Order: sequence, then C-alpha cells, then structure tokens
Amino acid sequence: MDAGLAADAFERHFGRRPGVVAAAPGRVNLIGAHVDYNGGRVLPFAVAQRTIVAAARDDSGRIRLYSQALDREIEFSVDVSAPGPSGSWDNYVRGVVAGLRERGQAIGGARIWIGGDLPPGCGMSSSAALCVSTGMALAHLAGAEIEPREMAQLAQTAEHAYAGMPCGIMDQFASCFGREDHAILIDCRDLSHEYVPFVPAGVSILVIPSGVKHALADGAYEKRVVSCNKAVAAIAAGSPEVRSLRDVDMERLNACRGAMDDETFRRARHIVSEMERVTAAVDVLRRGELKTLGRLLWETQDSLRDDYEISCEEIDDMIGLLRKCDGVLGARMVGGGFGGIVLALIDEGAADSVSRQLVDSYHRPRHIEERPFRVRPAAGASVVRV
Ligand code: GLA
Repeated sequence: MDAGLAADAFERHFGRRPGVVAAAPGRVNLIGAHVDYNGGRVLPFAVAQRTIVAAARDDSGRIRLYSQALDREIEFSVDVSAPGPSGSWDNYVRGVVAGLRERGQAIGGARIWIGGDLPPGCGMSSSAALCVSTGMALAHLAGAEIEPREMAQLAQTAEHAYAGMPCGIMDQFASCFGREDHAILIDCRDLSHEYVPFVPAGVSILVIPSGVKHALADGAYEKRVVSCNKAVAAIAAGSPEVRSLRDVDMERLNACRGAMDDETFRRARHIVSEMERVTAAVDVLRRGELKTLGRLLWETQDSLRDDYEISCEEIDDMIGLLRKCDGVLGARMVGGGFGGIVLALIDEGAADSVSRQLVDSYHRPRHIEERPFRVRPAAGASVVRV
C-alpha cells in the first residue's frame, strides 16, 4: 500500500497531514457460495486491490468524508444513531462510527479521505473493505486495539444495520484475515479459520467483470436468506437439534423434501451441495488437483443458476463462452448474484487468448469498458502510522 500517496492526497484535500492510513483488500470467493449465512465453511481469498483510507481526528463532533472515486464529500454528526438516505455510500461509515461508539470508543470527530484501487460496485466486496479500512483507521485514532475477528464482526454489523444488507461474515473476514498465496477456510459457525496454500502452478486466476448489477440483487439476497431459514424450520420441526443448514446433509434434506415447497427445497439443496463442494475443494486444493477444482466451480455455477436462481442472462452468456474456450478449468459467478464478477481458473498459456475472446464476444458488443484481469491471493487489512 502506498500510504505516502494517500497521506499526500489527504493533505491536498483537507489542508493538513492525516494521523493514520489504513488499507483493506477486496476478496474473491473461490468456493462456498451463499454458505456463510448458513453457518457453513467458505474458501475466499483477499486480493491485492484495496480501499485505502487516510484519516485525522478533530474535535468538531462531525465526520467529514471525501471519496476520491466518487469525487464527493459528505458530512455527518458523530452522534449517529440511524442510517442516512437509503443507498447512500456514507451509510457504511455511519455504521462503523456507530459500532465503535457503542463499543465505548471516544470519537470526537474526524476527517477521512477514501481512495485506493477497489472502486465501489466492482464485485470484489468494496463495501466490506470500506467498513474494515475506516473501522481500523478510526479505532487507531481513538487508541483502541481491536482484534481482526471483532473488526470483521463490527464491519458486518455496520452493513446489516446501516446499509440494510443482511450479509454473512465472509467478505469482512476475508478482508481482515487475507494472507499472500493462501485461501482462507472460514468456519462461519464458530468463526475459526485456517489457511490453505493457493498458488495454482501453471494456472491463472482471472476475474471477469460482467459489467452488470441488476437492481433486484439486494432484495433477492434477503429472500434467499429467508428461504434458507424456512428450510431449517421445516427440518427442525422433526429434528430439533438442527439449527442451520450446516447441520443437514443431502440424505436428511431429501428425507424432508415433503416438509417444504419445491422452491425452498431447491434453495436448501444448493446450500447443502455447496457445503459438500467446499469440503471436496479443500481436499483437491491440498492435493494440487486443479482440474477437479475447476469441475467443482462449474458445478457451483450450475447450482447457482438452477437451484439458487441468482444468475442472469449476461452471466449465463459469459459462462457459455467460457465453456467453449480451450484451457478453462472452471468458472463461476461470485458474490450476491445477478451480475458482478465471474472467477475463472485458466491454464496459464491460454489465459490471454481467453481474455481476448471474452473482450471480443462479451465486453465489446455490450459496450462494457471493464476488462478481465488476473488476481492472486494477497495480505489482509493493515494500518500504517503516519
Ligand atoms: C455477498 C455477501 C456475502 C456472501 C456472498 C455470497 O458477497 O456479502 O456475505 O453471502 O454474497 O457467497
């Protein structure tokens, strides 16, 4: 992270030096789609792209935020107790300020400059990175030591309460705990984690922006959460020890099929089968069987399209193209659904050609300016005293 550049940009904007610079990365989830809010295990990795925040404390009783990506400044009272207008980007930071104050941190006011190379809406969890980076910067200014796990939870609560997004913990956790050349196996039930080496020899990890984010995405996410809970309630009626889909295997789910409607059953089937794929993926990753890992990604994509029903025409088209390209081991959409990014594992020698074919057949005809790019697992969030 270039803390010096961020500090200079802060000074140009606010006319003084910042007290701290913090950076938090985005994430790509290798496998474990929509499993986090069902108490299962997920396997994301942090990327090099990050949100960088420079901040200085003051005693104005106000938070002044400047976003370089949006070229917009916004100001609100530190005494925040409710979100601002719905959909506004500053709500993430309002949530973080509220969370820190609830924890007893004295925040008398601050100026915050937000930059970095993880633009809002890029599909790699810029919102989690924004919450984590501002949380770390403000905690540092308040003299608080907050462990990464608690920071991830604080960031998640901010999204729940201030951005109205009932997300799981994966994005925030990955942003806090990223490690170079490793994926993070997160157990979302007890919040333990372990690192799994992930430097696929001879394979490129490509992120392909779909260039779309359909408006129904957020409402649909919440509906999926509700469906999963409905499935748990139906199963738990006969088996009270079941508290989440983590406690359910395919046999039990099939046995309970008659206790729920077909849609609820298919939503649960995606989750239960995806949990099995995560276990398989960890095994094959440890053995270096990248072909099998690729096959698991294709299976996840099919399950997301058919059972979870969160794909869309554009993603289906892109996946169709990828399936026809030589050298693609596997690909799947990542994130909440209905657009965002696709992750593809591609034989290194074929990656440039696949990228060109996508640009020619997917991005150019749709006038989408974003382009596929390579990523590799990178370190988690950090703070630099300046
Ligand atoms: C979004 C949420 C995550 C997770 C993914 C789907 O990124 O923020 O918590 O549920 O979708 O895997």
